[in-house]
Amino acid sequence: MGSTFSLLGRDFEVNPMSALLTILGLWALRGIFKTVRLLMTPSFFPQFRTAFQPLGLPGSFLPTTSWTAGLDWNWHTRRARQSPLPPILVGPQAIWTSNIEVARQVITGSHKTSFYKPAWASQALLIWGMNLVASDGQMWRKHRRVFGPAFNSELYKLVWEETTRTYKDMIQTDGWNTKDVVDVPVAQNLTVKVLAFMVIASCGFGFESSWATPASTDGLLYLPFASFTEARMARDRLAAFMQAQIAERKVDVAAGSTRADAFTMLVKANQDESNKYQLDDEELIGNIFVLMFAGHETTAATLAATLGFMAIHDDIQEEVLAQIISVVGLKGEPQLEDYPKLDKVLAIFYEALRMFPPASMLIREATEDTILTVPNPPGEEGSQSVPISKGTQIVLDMVGAQYNPRYFENPAEYRPSRWYGLPAESELFTAFSVGARACIGRKFAALEATSFLTLLLRDWKIVPLLRDGETKEAWGARMKDARMVMTLGVATDIPVRFERRTHTG
Ligand code: HEM
Repeated sequence: MGSTFSLLGRDFEVNPMSALLTILGLWALRGIFKTVRLLMTPSFFPQFRTAFQPLGLPGSFLPTTSWTAGLDWNWHTRRARQSPLPPILVGPQAIWTSNIEVARQVITGSHKTSFYKPAWASQALLIWGMNLVASDGQMWRKHRRVFGPAFNSELYKLVWEETTRTYKDMIQTDGWNTKDVVDVPVAQNLTVKVLAFMVIASCGFGFESSWATPASTDGLLYLPFASFTEARMARDRLAAFMQAQIAERKVDVAAGSTRADAFTMLVKANQDESNKYQLDDEELIGNIFVLMFAGHETTAATLAATLGFMAIHDDIQEEVLAQIISVVGLKGEPQLEDYPKLDKVLAIFYEALRMFPPASMLIREATEDTILTVPNPPGEEGSQSVPISKGTQIVLDMVGAQYNPRYFENPAEYRPSRWYGLPAESELFTAFSVGARACIGRKFAALEATSFLTLLLRDWKIVPLLRDGETKEAWGARMKDARMVMTLGVATDIPVRFERRTHTG
């Protein structure tokens, strides 16, 4: 039975089933038309054709196949690209690029740019309030003004000292000091505990914590250390906890507190700003949440991958050990002043980061019709001017950039010597992004990694924890795949064994 409607004085009968079939038919026709048009349009670059956009529905839930790009399609291909990604069925026009010069035009932080960071790209980070990562334009400048002074030398000193303290606490509490061999079936669990519960607790929040009792404050238990889902469930309790913390810190700062943790530093930098630029409490909470998430997840995953690479590269481990001993000695403790001299230690972390970049894509959108200048392929002079229409997504493919032979000889090889002798903040290292909007936590992460690895590698040799009958090569091959869950990291557990070095006896 159909329903009737009137138009221009005449009555029409409509059958719902025929209406549905007509709509589906029109949609299919539109798809065919779009496909034919795409195939006939001249493209500046070779196109990767996909049925759905990987950054939308249903594309992000689909695996990468020959007919559609999944969320981690850039990991599966791992190569340099300028790929227009015109979805045949659903989604906006997008261009994925692995060229850093193009990235610099798109990720600027300047208000004169034709590109912005869309809120949907950071939606998951907005549940606690606007923050530095998710904001753009004027709003971003306001947040960055407060962050800048908060990330200062006092904070960095604290990061270095707390990481050293954490290492020593771990050795003592878990009884490593009485053992010659320690097996760790999941290296990720170790690095998450070091960074999340210990370093972030003390350097982020200024809480007293020890390896045996990581969180001495109830509220800390509700931080997003275990999983993102748990953090969402604990939202209300965490919000109340954060409010109380902010109130306490405002009083402390007014009383001239000398605490150097990131939370207190942010509150202080905010109080020092004129009213016009001050963040409100919700924005402060949003930023603290982002610090915890952006900070611990990414660094912990990379540190675990570094341990994995050390387990299969004895020669590199020995080379780094020689530098550690020459700088710190067999018994001494690394000091913050030693950091620039420990470039080989930082290099093993940077190289693991290059091969498994946790921030695997950076997303921007064109606010107007504009032009991008795209350098010609290596070996060819000059560049092309590529027109970009308003609404086009530009995705900096971080995996492609880190595996781009334009920048790296033999990019699939783990070769930390690429970074030897370079200043820690060199812009040649791009996995923290480039320009004014690059990662503000880069030095924080580099310090944590360098001080922890210096102590660990000096005292322990890392080897693979093999399954029965497994060879070292087979173990290495297991570690080579990555998985994307919020951020990119090694897909499997990393099982390692620590063997005491004789000089520690
Ligand atoms: C291995 C560790 C890390 C990696 C690979 C990493 C990577 C990145 C990248 C690629 C961006 C740019 C995102 C974009 O423009 O869309 C970024 C931004 C940011 N990161 Fe990190 N990060 C790391 C550690 C940290 C740490 C330890 C902190 C804080 C303690 C932190 C805080 C931030 C913040 C607040 C931003 C936003 C900066 C802005 O937009 O002005 N990150 N990070």
